[in-house]
Amino acid sequence: MRLNQAVCLVCNPDLVEPIVRDYYAFGKDFSQTYREAAATFWGNSILVSNDADWLRQRRILQRALHHSRIAAYGETMVSRTARMLDTWHDGESFDLHQRLMRHTLALMTRNLLGMDFSAAENEEVIAALDATLALFSDLSQLELKFDTPEKQRFRETVGRLNEIVYAAIARRRADPQDRGDMLFALMNTPDEGGLMTDTELRDEIVTMLRAAHRNTATLLAWSFALVAQHPAVDVALADELERVLGESQPDLGALPRLSYTERVVKETMRYYPLYPNVRRDIETAYELGGYRIPAGTALGISIWAMHRDPRFFPDPERFDPSRWTEALERSLPKLAFLPFGGGPRQCPFKSYGMFEAVLLLATIRSDTRSSSPRASARSRTTRLTASCRRTAFEWLPGSGSACPKHLSPDGGLGCDPIDTSILLQTAQINPRQLHAR
Ligand code: HEM
Repeated sequence: MRLNQAVCLVCNPDLVEPIVRDYYAFGKDFSQTYREAAATFWGNSILVSNDADWLRQRRILQRALHHSRIAAYGETMVSRTARMLDTWHDGESFDLHQRLMRHTLALMTRNLLGMDFSAAENEEVIAALDATLALFSDLSQLELKFDTPEKQRFRETVGRLNEIVYAAIARRRADPQDRGDMLFALMNTPDEGGLMTDTELRDEIVTMLRAAHRNTATLLAWSFALVAQHPAVDVALADELERVLGESQPDLGALPRLSYTERVVKETMRYYPLYPNVRRDIETAYELGGYRIPAGTALGISIWAMHRDPRFFPDPERFDPSRWTEALERSLPKLAFLPFGGGPRQCPFKSYGMFEAVLLLATIRSDTRSSSPRASARSRTTRLTASCRRTAFEWLPGSGSACPKHLSPDGGLGCDPIDTSILLQTAQINPRQLHAR
């Protein structure tokens, strides 16, 4: 955001429509300082590019996410989540958000690259992602003309991240077999612009690693926190998992029957949208809803405000997954619920993120359900308690207005709006007691 730049916050779905539809008129024109710094990490990836570059990247990425490749991604998610659960021990306390971030990053690495990073490489990747988040969450840092420890750390860690990613690209090029991974599709999908170069591949890979590290994990952390705070929701969720899955693990085929689990995820995204705002810019004056918006204005689409608007969601401050009936979905204006954004620039990973969240919530919750009276002996004896550090939201008036921190222009780029920490406590319960209940 440039100093003294006008910001217009749009909270009406009808007015959001032309903004997201016309991606040429409403682009992502960040300030020069921001763009230069962003290029160090995102390069010219789909997240920051505009016009013809963006269109080409989007087409190629869509082919990498073709539904014929998706089933294998779901299998990886469930089998690896089951493996992760085997490392959780009774009596242990840990930060669930942190664990999930590492987990969803590892899942993306496997699905995207068709390989795993070593433990040391994982740490280096996470260090770079953390350094990037720290720098881009504080835009004033970027405006400083001199070097700071944060900028230094960012440069060093991203340098190492690049080495790891370029090495992965080289390894994949040396083994040109389609193993269902996204990188193979990205490398081998020709377009008018030819095949993607190593630099282009690197830009897309770091963007996806960054998104995979935080997005689904933060969404899930909020889901667990909200479920733990709403015991009736927890019981309904556990009931569905017991009924639909029994002793088996979920897969993509089970998704249509996990409708309550999906509602929990949707309601979490309504209640705490990962991206409270997304930003667009206009270069020439534009008339929107009878208002003349001057050239150079930053437009913030307030997802938060629309998700808390009582015209669309009655009693919006109540966390209530059962509100997600077919009737509600039919009655909603097209862009009143947009956790994944809208229009051609909506999240290309919308369906990946959605089924990842449902599968992981189902897998983890069905393995940690024995605090409920209907628990089976195989279930892990785990009690979920949640403590949320709502630093970004504490001061919100609760009326659906947006958080000023996220009026910043990088909404959807660098900052993680929700700082959740969940403590997962486990307690040993005698299996006989379980049967006796
Ligand atoms: C599961 C939760 C997720 C949510 C709620 C979410 C949300 C969003 C939103 C709101 C946007 C639109 C931003 C804008 O209009 O400026 C977006 C774009 C994007 N997301 Fe996601 N996302 C999720 C998961 C992911 C994952 C797992 C990835 C990749 C690994 C990803 C990659 C992207 C990319 C590359 C874009 C830019 C698309 C473009 O500009 O064409 N997202 N996401």
